[in-house]
Parts: sequence; C-alpha cells; structure tokens
Amino acid sequence: MASPLNRLSYAARQTARVAWYAGHYAAGRRLLKPMPKPGFAIGPTPSRQEMTADMRALFTREWQDIEAGLFRPPRTLGPEPAEFLRRSLLYFRDLPQVDARRHGQLGDELPPGTQADALPDYYRQNFHFQSDGWLSDHSAALYDTQVEVLFTGAADVMRRRAMKPIADWLGGRDQRTLRGLDVGCGTGRLLAFLHDAWPGIRWTGLDLSPPYLAEARRLIGRTARVKLIEGAAEKLPFEPASMNLVVSSFLLHELPAPVRIKALAEMRRVLTPDGLVVIVDSIQKGDHPGWDGLLDLFPHYFHEPYYAEFANGSLAAWAEAAGLKCVASERAFLSSVAAFTR
Ligand SMILES: C[S@@+](CC[C@H](N)C(=O)[O-])C[C@H]1O[C@@H](n2cnc3c(N)ncnc32)[C@H](O)[C@@H]1O
Repeated sequence: MASPLNRLSYAARQTARVAWYAGHYAAGRRLLKPMPKPGFAIGPTPSRQEMTADMRALFTREWQDIEAGLFRPPRTLGPEPAEFLRRSLLYFRDLPQVDARRHGQLGDELPPGTQADALPDYYRQNFHFQSDGWLSDHSAALYDTQVEVLFTGAADVMRRRAMKPIADWLGGRDQRTLRGLDVGCGTGRLLAFLHDAWPGIRWTGLDLSPPYLAEARRLIGRTARVKLIEGAAEKLPFEPASMNLVVSSFLLHELPAPVRIKALAEMRRVLTPDGLVVIVDSIQKGDHPGWDGLLDLFPHYFHEPYYAEFANGSLAAWAEAAGLKCVASERAFLSSVAAFTR
C-alpha cells in the first residue's frame, strides 16, 4: 500500500499537479489587469516561500496517514489527457470575461428573474466572477481548474484531509452498513475520493446545480453506491438520523449567514446519534493569524459575497449553536478541516 515506489509516485504526481496549476496561476496573473489596491486595512500576509512550505507539509501529513494505513494513496482522478488540456484552454479563454467582471465592465450577473427562477436569489450570482455562476455546463467544466489554480494545486489534498477524521471514526465499523452524504458536492471530487477509499459505504451527493451534478457523475461513473441528487443544504430531503457521515467542502462560505446556520442544523438533524460531520472550508480569522490578510484580500479580488462575514466568524461557534460538538480539527494550508458529533 505505502511502498517506497508508491511514495515516489505520490510525490511525483503531487509535484506535477502543483507545477501545472502554479504555472496557470502565474500565466493568469500576467493576463489579468491589476486590480486597484484595497482601500481598507488588511492583516498580515505570508511570503510565497512560507505558503509553499506549508503546502508541502500538508502533502507530508497526508502521506504519513497513508503510511499509517488510514487510507490508500489517492488515485489520479479526472478526465483523459486530451480533455484535461481542453479544460486548461477553456480556463484561459474564459479569463478575459473574468477580468471584465473584476473591473466592473461586464454586467452579466445572474439577477433573480433571469435564469433558474426556482433557485434561491442568493445562489444566482457569478460566484468567483465565474461565467454563468453555478448554472451551466460550461461553468461546471471550468470549475475544477479554477479552484486548483486558486490553490496552486492543493485543493484536492485539502478536501482529502476530511478522510483523516473519517478514518479515525470508522474504526471497526462495517462500511456496508453506513450511509454518507456530501452536502454541496459540486463536481464530486471529495465524493469520488471518499467512494474510492470506502467503496462499501452508500454515498449521496447533493447540490443545487444540475450541471455540476452531471459533472460529478462523469467523474465518479455509474455506480449504485453513489447517488447524486438535486437539493438545498438548508432543506435536506432526508429523514432525521438517516446519515452516519455528513461531509461538506467549500460550501459554507458561499452561503449567507442565515442559510449557513440552517444548513448546519440540517446536517445535525440528518446525522445518526453516533455519526460524524466533517466540514472542509476556508480558514477563518485567527486560525493562522499571520495569514489573516489573505482572508481580507480574497473577497476584494474574487466575487465572494458572503466570504468576509464567514472569515470573520467562527465555524465552531455556529456548529455549537446548531447542536454539534467539535471533536477534531486541523488547519490544512488555506483550509480548516473540522469534525463534529452530536
Ligand atoms: C464552492 S462549490 C464547492 C463544491 C465542492 N464541494 C468542492 O469541494 O469543490 C459550492 C457548491 O455548492 C453548491 N451550493 C451552493 N449553495 C447551495 C445550497 N444552498 N444547497 C446545495 N448546494 C449549494 C453550488 O452549486 C456549488 O456546487
């Protein structure tokens, strides 16, 4: 499982990913017009070297868990090489539109009444200045590249840190008796890793976006063990105490505060009394004080309507108010991974 060969292959794959997406990041910076500096005070920010060292430490921690036998080395997930390259091209072709939105020159926000009327108002926006918000196949095809470029190749490993508390919790439990739910599963990357690691568990991925769910199905493939359904985090279509595991990655910072609170309460409602909730999301102010300035800058450079309020709040406090107790947490580069029980 964790042979020296596997270790080399893991290190080579992660290094190649980081180089690939860091290259996109650098090229993107050259192509995008600089934004005006923020007109407000920002906290401290780290150097690029410090961030690189922190990311490397994260890969090392994941490998240590693999060596300890908690889970297998991750499989390479994603489209065939030709499709992978096509997505990279799509990403660069979309950058001029992203740039125009960043500079207020493209007023193509998705206001209520123009598209997908059945969806909540807070949802119909060009999050991340992304073309079509969450609402098209084009956006779903671009999303993974955009996120990996933003995190210079570390998005997947941050998501996978959810597997550590899950592996600890699983202990001797029989996978085949368990049900798991990924709330806001998007294009399904976390779900695919979880299904790969524990194929006996019956997983459900829920998201409001049909195109993102279709992308998740392409990634995961046809299997009765993973259901994908349209639904809202704040109104989960499941019975109370019906899920042993509930996970969610990078959803909560996209929600307005009242919806976020409802979503957490829903996660608790559907959780079995001995179940586990694992949330992966952005770090918040004070989680790593020397990086607080990055959290100030993020919503200035990206369209993230609810992020500033999220970053200044406390996930642990919101979860506690929803009846969830934090039992483990880890800062994983720019994310925090927190596990909760009822
Ligand atoms: C930033 S993406 C995260 C997706 C995925 N979990 C990941 O790790 O990349 C946020 C996702 O949440 C979905 N979403 C946003 N609001 C939602 C809600 N109220 N209920 C369910 N899904 C929602 C979006 O459609 C999008 O797929």
